[in-house]
Amino acid sequence: MKKIITSLIVIFLLSFKYSDVDKTNSNNSPISPETEECIMCHSTLHPGIIKDWENSRHSKISTFNANKKSDLEKRVSSIPSDSILSKVVVGCYECHSLNTDNHADSFEHNGYIINVVVSPNDCSVCHNEENEQYSKNIMSHAYANLMENKVYLDFKASITSDIKFEDGSFHFNDNNDLTDADACLHCHGTILKVTGKETRESDFGEFEFPIIEGWPNQGVGRINPDGSKGACTSCHPRHDFSIETARKPYTCSQCHKGPDVPAYKVYISSKHGNIYNSDKEKYNFSNVPWVIGNDFVAPTCASCHSSLLTDTEGNVVAERTHQFNDRLSSRLFGVPYAHPHPISPETHLITNSSGMQLAADLDGTPASEFLINEKEQVERDNEMKQICNKCHSSSWTDNHFIRLNDVIKSSNAYTITATELMLKIWEKGYADNSNLFDENIERQWTDLWLFHSNSVRLSAAMGGGGDYGVFANGRYQLTNKLFYLKEWLENKDNMKGKKKK
Ligand code: HEC
Ligand code: HEC
Ligand code: HEC
Ligand code: HEC
Ligand code: HEC
Ligand code: HEC
Ligand code: HEC
Ligand code: HEC
Repeated sequence: MKKIITSLIVIFLLSFKYSDVDKTNSNNSPISPETEECIMCHSTLHPGIIKDWENSRHSKISTFNANKKSDLEKRVSSIPSDSILSKVVVGCYECHSLNTDNHADSFEHNGYIINVVVSPNDCSVCHNEENEQYSKNIMSHAYANLMENKVYLDFKASITSDIKFEDGSFHFNDNNDLTDADACLHCHGTILKVTGKETRESDFGEFEFPIIEGWPNQGVGRINPDGSKGACTSCHPRHDFSIETARKPYTCSQCHKGPDVPAYKVYISSKHGNIYNSDKEKYNFSNVPWVIGNDFVAPTCASCHSSLLTDTEGNVVAERTHQFNDRLSSRLFGVPYAHPHPISPETHLITNSSGMQLAADLDGTPASEFLINEKEQVERDNEMKQICNKCHSSSWTDNHFIRLNDVIKSSNAYTITATELMLKIWEKGYADNSNLFDENIERQWTDLWLFHSNSVRLSAAMGGGGDYGVFANGRYQLTNKLFYLKEWLENKDNMKGKKKK
């Protein structure tokens, strides 16, 4: 009976043609009848979703028509092989019905098989290039890079465990998926697992839906129900999927803000960030290609790390990349040392000479066979410098990178000194090295490289120095920790000496 009522409602609603969107559609690209059905119910259920989609480019143009634009202006990189799919605007059905055979989350919904999650692999039907490149971005591997690295799991356990105090010591139990989803995996990405089905009541009758564990999540390395990695929505939130959002720095700030990874804080207090804040109303954030000088006068995160940029004469300054690492010569984020960029984005496959999954030995020697060579480093720096040189003279740019390289060396040197002290502490049995992160003194050492060395380096890379290099979690706090480690070791040695007497 409920099914019949539902069908009647749909037929009733369908008798009113959905016309709002047609008016804004100047490209003569029709909405598919399937999508019109979705809109009938979902415009009452989820007006937020429908309006958002209406404002998007997807609601206004078919892939076929979008593909007629010149190469530099195109916003699609592939055409669906199904000709009907390519000739209608990209509506609810066009995205939610792709590759259903590969999706553990596919389900029958009003006579159509659809997926709840639209994955990078689904987007690749029309955006193949972006998907291919993103699969080489370190971000798309963020789940395994964390969860399949034994050293990092020890680190995680010291932070996210349920901790019990028994027999004078702590017992860690790091086995809570809900905590993980709320903590590390919020950014790194969860695993989406279909665990069964549930029935929900609604104004339109009863419906059956898959139950998805690990959802919601928009982490950059999310493992999807079709096995693909990442969530394009981490930078292009649904349902307007705009280039504008991705080009603005707030988008990146969701994950790049903490004291361990302060890229956003460094940027927003840099000269570039100041100019952006003061002039952003005058910028054009949706133009493709993005023209340096006409569309913006100081760069955002996207300009330096991702965007297709041209000069005012239409010459390409940088190709668009969803890989990001093709403009990065070093991995500044050091656990515990900065090093030349890894060859593979799967950092969990790297091992140092003592078999730990780290890109350097504890004495600072890099695991070179896993890292790019100097020639490649110079090439990547040149990619980045070409962008700087459209607004700066080459001497300004070159001097900036000379300082950055010096900061990489000096911040690593501080970390080596601190780690030498820590190695003595472990050697003498003053701390237990079975987990390197779960005692107070080990945390003092961790703060030094995780917060302070990383902060100093990011500040040099993206602010040309400044507060985050010195007093705001920078060198001042770094040297505090160094003095503390030395005195702590001396005190322990003294106490041991006294006991012997
Ligand atoms: C007869 C009404 C109706 C039609 C037609 C309809 N839906 Fe739904 N849909 C619903 C209801 C009701 C829900 C549940 C909403 C909730 O739980 O808040 C839902 C939920 C969903 C969800 C979320 C699933 C989840 O696990 O929460 C997606 C995705 C979805 N619909 C997509 C579509 C697509 C795509 C179409 C068109 C092919 C469509 N719907 C057509 C009524 C409809
Ligand atoms: C880490 C952030 C991030 C993620 C994740 C991301 N993008 Fe992007 N995307 C961007 C940025 C930044 C731009 C702007 C590039 C430019 O200015 O040229 C962009 C632009 C685009 C464009 C517009 C291209 C054009 O030709 O105008 C498309 C399409 C796109 N992304 C698709 C995707 C798809 C598909 C995925 C998932 C596989 C994805 N993006 C994941 C940041 C991201
Ligand atoms: C360009 C592809 C695309 C189009 C077009 C699209 N969706 Fe989605 N939809 C997505 C993605 C991606 C998600 C997020 C799923 C995730 O990654 O968790 C999503 C999520 C949803 C959800 C669950 C969201 C939540 O917060 O609970 C619903 C419901 C939904 N879509 C309905 C619709 C409807 C209705 C339309 C048509 C107006 C539509 N979608 C059009 C890609 C699309
Ligand atoms: C069936 C083809 C198709 C699918 C599937 C599809 N898109 Fe698109 N996408 C388009 C078209 C068409 C445009 C608009 C091109 C234009 O305006 O020239 C577009 C534009 C975009 C843009 C640029 C928007 C802007 O403001 O410039 C982004 C970002 C984007 N899509 C992301 C996604 C993501 C993420 C997914 C998957 C969740 C997805 N698309 C799925 C066809 C598709
Ligand atoms: C949802 C969280 C999230 C968002 C949003 C996000 N990132 Fe990331 N990003 C990460 C994580 C997590 C990593 C580290 C992955 C790893 O090491 O496995 C990362 C790594 C990076 C790296 C290092 C790449 C490398 O190869 O060394 C760069 C650069 C970067 N992100 C830039 C950006 C920019 C620019 C934006 C905005 C356009 C952005 N990110 C948005 C989570 C995010
Ligand atoms: C707010 C978002 C966010 C959260 C939450 C988060 N991270 Fe990260 N993580 C990042 C970003 C961003 C990077 C990359 C920084 C860079 O390259 O500058 C990263 C990188 C890492 C790396 C280096 C990975 C590699 O490829 O070598 C480790 C290890 C790490 N995070 C551990 C953790 C642990 C453990 C937790 C939880 C206790 C956690 N993260 C929580 C954003 C986050
Ligand atoms: C003026 C250009 C520019 C801007 C703007 C910019 N970056 Fe960077 N970024 C760089 C340079 C240069 C490096 C260091 C490159 C190297 O040594 O490999 C870097 C490094 C990074 C890293 C470190 C990756 C690693 O090795 O661990 C992250 C993460 C990052 N940027 C994110 C962002 C975010 C997020 C924003 C915006 C809030 C941003 N960047 C703005 C130029 C820029
Ligand atoms: C779109 C133009 C543009 C691009 C691209 C750009 N910058 Fe800038 N940058 C500026 C402007 C404008 C200023 C402000 C200069 C002033 O106030 O004299 C500035 C300021 C700076 C400063 C601040 C100096 C200070 O003392 O505060 C540094 C450092 C810098 N840029 C480095 C770079 C580097 C390195 C790159 C490339 C990775 C780069 N810029 C890319 C426009 C740009």
